[in-house]
Amino acid sequence: MTQDELKRATARAAVDYITPKLEADSIVGVGTGSTANFFIDYLAEIKGLFDGTVASSEASAERLKAHGIPVYDLNSVDGIQFYIDGADEANPALQLIKGGGAALTREKIVAACSDEFVCIADESKWVPILGEFPLPVEVIPMARSFVARELVKLGGDPVYRQGVTTDNGNVILDVHNLKITEPRALEEAINNITGVVTNGIFALRPADLMLLGTTAGVKTFSAQ
Ligand code: 5RP
Repeated sequence: MTQDELKRATARAAVDYITPKLEADSIVGVGTGSTANFFIDYLAEIKGLFDGTVASSEASAERLKAHGIPVYDLNSVDGIQFYIDGADEANPALQLIKGGGAALTREKIVAACSDEFVCIADESKWVPILGEFPLPVEVIPMARSFVARELVKLGGDPVYRQGVTTDNGNVILDVHNLKITEPRALEEAINNITGVVTNGIFALRPADLMLLGTTAGVKTFSAQ
């Protein structure tokens, strides 16, 4: 199977997972990226079963609206029942690296508001230790060089993602060569650097469930 077929299978599994649990007033949080896009396309098939969505990016909001699925401002909803999103890396504790699509800050906000965070990913994302994928860090533009120097002190090699502005008007530094053995501590340490908006480690609020698309079928993991 191709990587896209695995992504499609895990997206289908996510819709199958939430369908019997949805109620007429349910709000679904929707992530960003190619796997999330497959999820949006399948979600359209059941759009009559829930109230609407909150999107983690302008791109996902546009795709949802194109399907006729309501998209709400996060401030106008009381809560989010499920958050469904992809990942760049995931470990067996369901701690993640996210932000390959530069949407990490809104993704982290929506995840924080959600009762249940279901991660959907193909098996190439499953790793024993996070950090092979360069860690995205969203930074206030004027703090870029300062934050980069601070990230070097933490052992990383930050690279400015040229030509990318986030939905929040900020820039991204991708930090190479981090071996993330203590994800929660590093998430906190990077977030404490002045000028950082947030970083792509999702360990303080990991996923609750992983639907991993593999050549042997979609495997389900709960946080250990
Ligand atoms: C976007 C993300 C995505 O979830 C992550 O990059 C995975 O993307 P894809 O599903 O295209 O592999 O964090 O900011």
